[in-house]
Amino acid sequence: MKKTIAVLPGDGIGPEIIAQAVKVLEAVAERYSHEFIYRYADIGAAAIGSTGDPYPEVTHRTCMESDAVLFGAIGDPKYDNDPKARVRPEQGLLKMRRALGLFANIRPVRPYAALLDASPLKNGIVEGSDFIVVRELTGGIYFGEPRGRNESGDKAFDTCVYSMEEIRRVAEVAFGYARRRRGRVTLVDKANVLATSRLWREVVTSMQKEEYPDIVLDCLYVDNAAMKMVSDPKAFDVILTENMFGDILSDVSGVINGSIGLLPSASFGSGISLFEPIHGSFPQGAGRDIANPVATILSAAMMLEDAFGMHKEAEAVRSACDDAVAGGVCTPDIVPGSSYGTRAVGDYIAGKVVGS
Ligand code: IPM
Ligand code: MN
Repeated sequence: MKKTIAVLPGDGIGPEIIAQAVKVLEAVAERYSHEFIYRYADIGAAAIGSTGDPYPEVTHRTCMESDAVLFGAIGDPKYDNDPKARVRPEQGLLKMRRALGLFANIRPVRPYAALLDASPLKNGIVEGSDFIVVRELTGGIYFGEPRGRNESGDKAFDTCVYSMEEIRRVAEVAFGYARRRRGRVTLVDKANVLATSRLWREVVTSMQKEEYPDIVLDCLYVDNAAMKMVSDPKAFDVILTENMFGDILSDVSGVINGSIGLLPSASFGSGISLFEPIHGSFPQGAGRDIANPVATILSAAMMLEDAFGMHKEAEAVRSACDDAVAGGVCTPDIVPGSSYGTRAVGDYIAGKVVGS
């Protein structure tokens, strides 16, 4: 098969981890006789530097003309410490999610047997957990209007808005996953306080009754869900939640498998899909060959499977990642003091794929 991939390395460690994912994709191309064409484009601080826009039109066009988008990371401390900055790198990611209509973000969590000790949680709590977070990605407080400051500048406001249709379409994705998994959806909200959460409950509860009676639905308040995620993660199968709660809970889920550097994600919508690690740009690690490339490589595996229908190829990549983790071929976030750097881990996984 021949596929065109828009590659957006972004900021911080983005270029280094993306280089490893591309290396592994090249190994897949060689082993299974595919051809991948990579079209690189700027996003985030890199794009602000060259065009003034964190998601320039040319990047959008590159994405739209490709079969899938592979994205690294975004964010630069130069902007974090300047609350008055008018353009921020993160706006590029948000603009891209909106422009590509990526309303559903899938974040799977499953700890590696070899890494049970890497989690600060007790083995017995972590072992056997296997769930996915389905996060709504283009609505809620991230995008609601009005937002900003009042005229005198002494007040700031953000608005959380959801329509029934926005809830419905992402809930369909979550129910669909539950049908292919263990048949359980947990809706996470704050319906005791927020009107938007009450709308989520209304829509999702009636969908379960009318269209998904085979799925068990339960509803949890987000504060309680955060506690349960670290005290009893095995209770979850598919977590369905709004944008901001999903952002927070998916970082919490990084604790379960020992490193956020291992968690991939996929975003789906009406057209093209996007694949990215859930972690950030780790600016302190940039250029030091210490960043964990596995989350990005696993995101590329999700791309092979979900965007291109390449199941055995995706499995080969996942199993090469398993081998790396099981064999201790890991960056220092997982094996403290490890002599394996970002590139060496990428080389090992690519080598395993070619030899598989
Ligand atoms: C994520 C990130 C982004 C988000 C940031 C970088 C805007 O934290 O993908 O989880 O909040 O969605
Ligand atoms: Mn996040």
